[in-house]
Amino acid sequence: MEYKKVSDSMVEQYHIILQSDINGVGRLFGGRLIQWIDEVACIVAKRHSGMNVTTAAIDNLIFKEAAYVGQTIVITGKITYVGHSSMEIRVDSYVENNKCQRCPINRAYITMVALGKDDKPAETAKIKIETESQKAEFEGAKKRIIYRKQRKNEGF
Ligand SMILES: CC(C)(COP(=O)(O)OP(=O)(O)OC[C@H]1O[C@@H](n2cnc3c(N)ncnc32)[C@H](O)[C@@H]1OP(=O)(O)O)[C@@H](O)C(=O)NCCC(=O)NCCS
Repeated sequence: MEYKKVSDSMVEQYHIILQSDINGVGRLFGGRLIQWIDEVACIVAKRHSGMNVTTAAIDNLIFKEAAYVGQTIVITGKITYVGHSSMEIRVDSYVENNKCQRCPINRAYITMVALGKDDKPAETAKIKIETESQKAEFEGAKKRIIYRKQRKNEGF
């Protein structure tokens, strides 16, 4: 069984908000941020698994702060849990001010699934837990998985 460190797959991505990222009321379009969040999760999962991956679920999307043209968006991603083929990735997004202070916009937990050559879910590498915070995230993920299974079973 292969084990990989959380630090082996961590991602930090930056965007300057352009006019093409803006919605009808002059703010960052939520759909654009969701795209960037999904991309970061995808890169983390690809790095960890070394396989093709697909997005199974995104929890959750609450936009706490608006962002505007010319501002910098910072998106960080790290793996928190691995099941058999599934990986949970925590993605935090921030808007950065001119003093480089980060104001949180959203924290999402994304379930990515590793796909084998047959395009079916395939077993992926496990996580080598090295710190107390990684252990806490791993334990938190076990609770979130119970909620997701319940949600899937109840069809909402
Ligand atoms: C995600 C997908 C591959 C799961 O396939 P499946 O036939 O249900 O396979 P399984 O039941 O074996 O599930 C595979 C893993 O995904 C997890 N999973 C499946 N549905 C899930 C959901 N709604 N939420 C969280 N995890 C989920 C399972 O728990 C399992 O994890 P494990 O291997 O670690 O135990 C399949 O539903 C799919 O291809 N969905 C479309 C994904 C896609 O195209 N996304 C892009 C945006 S449209």
